[in-house]
Amino acid sequence: MDIVERIVLSEEQIQTRVQELGQAISQDYGDECITLLCILKGGLMFLCDLAKHITSPVVYDFMSVSSYGDATQSSGVVRITKDLEESIEGKHVIIVEDIIDTGLTLSYLLNNLHSRNPASLRICTLLNKEAHRKVEIAVDYVGFDVPNEFLVGYGLDFKQLYRNIPYVFVPKPEYYQDQVD
Ligand code: PRP
Repeated sequence: MDIVERIVLSEEQIQTRVQELGQAISQDYGDECITLLCILKGGLMFLCDLAKHITSPVVYDFMSVSSYGDATQSSGVVRITKDLEESIEGKHVIIVEDIIDTGLTLSYLLNNLHSRNPASLRICTLLNKEAHRKVEIAVDYVGFDVPNEFLVGYGLDFKQLYRNIPYVFVPKPEYYQDQVD
């Protein structure tokens, strides 16, 4: 694709790591049922691939928590645009995210979800951009630590596009000039 400046994580690298994460989660939870809580829309591709490698029983639920809109910087404003369908009280929940950047979204989510009294609440993110953190977040499962650059693909969008691309890439600057810090 013309927009691709550089591939950061290949499809093969991602699939290998996702399999490892699924195996680690299966070992940790055994026969306990896990609620995989996908944060839309970015977490969707990761959820689908990750779930294939989890041998523990799983159920899915979904939330939309928007902090960015179509902009490429966090506004710090978080709002729930779609809430869970099932109660998570007494359930073992793993939040499935594509990326943790400033941590603002998850900080809000963790507070919100803890108040619903799950049996346990963990975080699984494919990408962890620690250098950009504004609030500290303890992450339980991390696919890859990534540097502070604009990443697109495998769930991560640019103006809602490219979420379906099976690898993670840096776009050419001319596509996003003046839109990213
Ligand atoms: C992205 C990502 C996380 C959040 C991380 O979602 O999926 O939810 O930003 O950023 P933070 O750590 O700085 O809060 P976004 O709001 O862009 O929605 P999307 O998943 O629909 O792309």
